[in-house]
Amino acid sequence: APLATPAPETGPGALAVTQERVPTRRRYLMCEPRFFTVEYVINPWMRPDQPVSTERAVEQWTELKRTYERLGHQVETIEPQPGLPDMVFAANSGTVIDGRVLGARFRAEQRSAEAEHYRRWFLEHGYRSVVMPEKINEAEGDFAWTGGLLLAGTGFRTDPGAHAEAQEVLGVPVVSLRLVDPRYYHLDVALFVLDDQSERPLVAYYPEAFSAGSQRVLRRLFPDAVIANDADAECLGLNGVSDGRNVVLPKEATHLAERIAERGFEPVLVDISELRKSGGGPKCCTMELRG
Ligand code: ARG
Repeated sequence: APLATPAPETGPGALAVTQERVPTRRRYLMCEPRFFTVEYVINPWMRPDQPVSTERAVEQWTELKRTYERLGHQVETIEPQPGLPDMVFAANSGTVIDGRVLGARFRAEQRSAEAEHYRRWFLEHGYRSVVMPEKINEAEGDFAWTGGLLLAGTGFRTDPGAHAEAQEVLGVPVVSLRLVDPRYYHLDVALFVLDDQSERPLVAYYPEAFSAGSQRVLRRLFPDAVIANDADAECLGLNGVSDGRNVVLPKEATHLAERIAERGFEPVLVDISELRKSGGGPKCCTMELRG
């Protein structure tokens, strides 16, 4: 008997039904920007001549934390340390999958001490498998978990050798992607995962941040990805955090918010203008504790 032809999911003839998106409860680790400043330059966003308000950074961060709590997520915090103004960017200090932790090793000397504070936090909070890397690895700054694959950025910060190390330590398949635009120096300012729970993960990304070969890899892996435009990227709109339904984004990322709403997600816009002066957004402030 002939097989029934399934209705196309996209393109002409697709059913005009948006998928019902289901959130899952998350656990995050965050660090209050109590000592936040911009006093050194390790990415093109950082301009020490520009005024920065630590107080406003704390307000914006507090609002981000409350947003997660309001969405039903659990937020853990780590004590900030004087002299480590970028410690607020928790995503850079560990990659946690199934309760296994791969710590960080920073490229910049100015941030290197952060890794040890986070390592201690993991040990004090019951994590048994905590491995510190040999290769430079800025954790979720350059690693994005799709639920089945670890997408791994390189080009500016994380050493390509750290990709193989992550695969071995975490026991997950790694796909390397090359970043080419210094404004998008970490993978998490060029791509984020919208849905990590289904067979077919969904991501949003800004193609121009990647090498030609990596763009082809992304098209092959994620043919139905949400494609961000220049304006989305320039406000660090790709630094989003999704729970599978609610997607926390910088408030300026209006084009991206519309595109993801069309796919059935709920954009939740936040103000991160102060943290952006250091080159960070919502995701940078948020390490996900998986398992
Ligand atoms: N000033 C920090 C740096 O350049 C910002 C890090 C932002 N974090 C992120 N996950 N992209 O290292």
